Amino acid sequence: MAENKSPDPKQRQRAEALAPDPCGGPLTTDQGVIVEHTDDSLRAGERGPTLLEDFHFREKITRFDHERIPERVVHARGAGAYGYFEPYASCAEFTRAAFLQDPAVRTPVFVRFSTVQGPRGSADTVRDVRGFATKFYTSEGNYDLVGNNFPVFFIQDGIKFPDFVHAVKMEPHNEIPTGASAHDTLWDFVSLQPETLHTIMWLMSDRAIPRSYRMMQGFGVHTFRFVDAAGKGTFVKFHWKPKLGVHSLVWDEAQEVMGRDPDFNRRDLWDTIEAGQYPEWELGVQLVPEADEHKFDFDLLDATKIIPEEQVPVRPIGRMVLDRNPDNFFAETEQIAFCTANVVPGIDFTNDPLLQARNFSYLDTQLIRLGGPNFAHIPVNRPVVDVRNNQRDGYHQEEIHRGTNYSPNSLGGGCPALGSVDEGAYRHLAERVDGVKIRKRSPSFDDHYTQAALFWHSMAGWEKQHIVDAFRFELGKVGAMPVRERTVEQLAHVDHELATAVAEGIGVAAPARQETPSPRPSPALSFENNQGESTI
Ligand code: HEM
Repeated sequence: MAENKSPDPKQRQRAEALAPDPCGGPLTTDQGVIVEHTDDSLRAGERGPTLLEDFHFREKITRFDHERIPERVVHARGAGAYGYFEPYASCAEFTRAAFLQDPAVRTPVFVRFSTVQGPRGSADTVRDVRGFATKFYTSEGNYDLVGNNFPVFFIQDGIKFPDFVHAVKMEPHNEIPTGASAHDTLWDFVSLQPETLHTIMWLMSDRAIPRSYRMMQGFGVHTFRFVDAAGKGTFVKFHWKPKLGVHSLVWDEAQEVMGRDPDFNRRDLWDTIEAGQYPEWELGVQLVPEADEHKFDFDLLDATKIIPEEQVPVRPIGRMVLDRNPDNFFAETEQIAFCTANVVPGIDFTNDPLLQARNFSYLDTQLIRLGGPNFAHIPVNRPVVDVRNNQRDGYHQEEIHRGTNYSPNSLGGGCPALGSVDEGAYRHLAERVDGVKIRKRSPSFDDHYTQAALFWHSMAGWEKQHIVDAFRFELGKVGAMPVRERTVEQLAHVDHELATAVAEGIGVAAPARQETPSPRPSPALSFENNQGESTI
């Protein structure tokens, strides 16, 4: 097989996992027994009842009946592709992550783009956030950067995620509406939870209707940490920048496209890769020394905030190219399992309470979505390095383990021996943690309006008009007038002109003028290693 010679370790591994060609011989049952033919069931006489002993019929129908698995609870609709990532230069100054050291080393990746709200069969060009999740198959294990095309998120603490998603998804009594963000529950939640406002501004902007997955930015959203070989941490935010630039549809166009081709974005990704026009992104990072953690007028742990690029510029560190469509949507794009907790040495977490919740949630949901604890055996999820541990059994165990399975162990089989490994092992950043156990958010998370206003004031006139039109369209569908009024009152804290323009279009009174944040961010900070030329 030619594929086995690929220099890409993931492609070699996949080639070994490919099922035999179904046309390469006679049809068999799952037990390997050759089937006479598959057009008629076994019956008692030509016109008689079907017999229970027809094992081929029963197996075929049973397998069909069990073809569907639960769709993702969010991000159900997606499209994915394989490719590679290569750094421009060594990032050893900030991180020991092996895949960020050598420009000559290409790391295989799989990327899945998605919409968030709609079910698997919904349309592509709805107003929504887009998922941008990347699995790097590195020489130190899998690293997942599970991001979105917005740099901020709707809530600050993951404990609100079930509430937020229940409000966003179809209404429970009639499952209406699907695929659009306009309904009473979402806007009720927004009007009562002002931390949503910054991301809601992005959602009402043209960023929420990308023209192509190839023309979308991606963001890790949270502040993560790089950790260097000496164990020193640096805060980092990740940015993907598309080589083709950022382009959106306009609303009327998006609606028209939705009617004509609900698979518009998926088809575009597939077709361009088939045509050899491989999409490309540059990976950039914003770096903040640990010592500067508290020098901002917002909290770095708050996922509803960006770090303005005037304050901390984005440094380009590498590029990613997607050059291969999957062979099988279900096996690969549907069964891929991303998790923010999948990190490699040199990349670590912060105490962002949204990130901490995500680190728990993804593995937990995949246990049910992918039928038990062995989903890392599925080819698309398998690391390209050996996996050795004492984890055993469970549904769909594919491996035949030998020997005993505990540690420490003198009888053979269990791994490892007593003692710790130094070389190549993941070591968590030795962060000092000190606090009183308390169910309370830090006051440094309190400002919900400054960055929403910053976003609004950064828009050109026509972009502002699109945002006003979007608010009018979406809020205009809300049946509960108090919800419309409360949302407009919230918008008045962002900008009175915006709130008044929206109010006029949806039949509610213009809100009272509120104290609104200054349109500019606080003066640029001057972090020594963030100025001038990149040192990477
Ligand atoms: C799925 C991004 C917040 C729970 C996803 C996916 C993306 C994503 C891109 C789709 C992955 C794929 O293509 O398979 C984000 C971002 C967030 C965020 C950027 C905020 C910064 C959260 C939070 C939770 C959560 C707070 C829960 C506490 C989930 C779950 C799935 C999911 C359960 C489905 C995963 C699966 O079935 O494999 N998210 N998410 N997300 N997310 Fe998030």
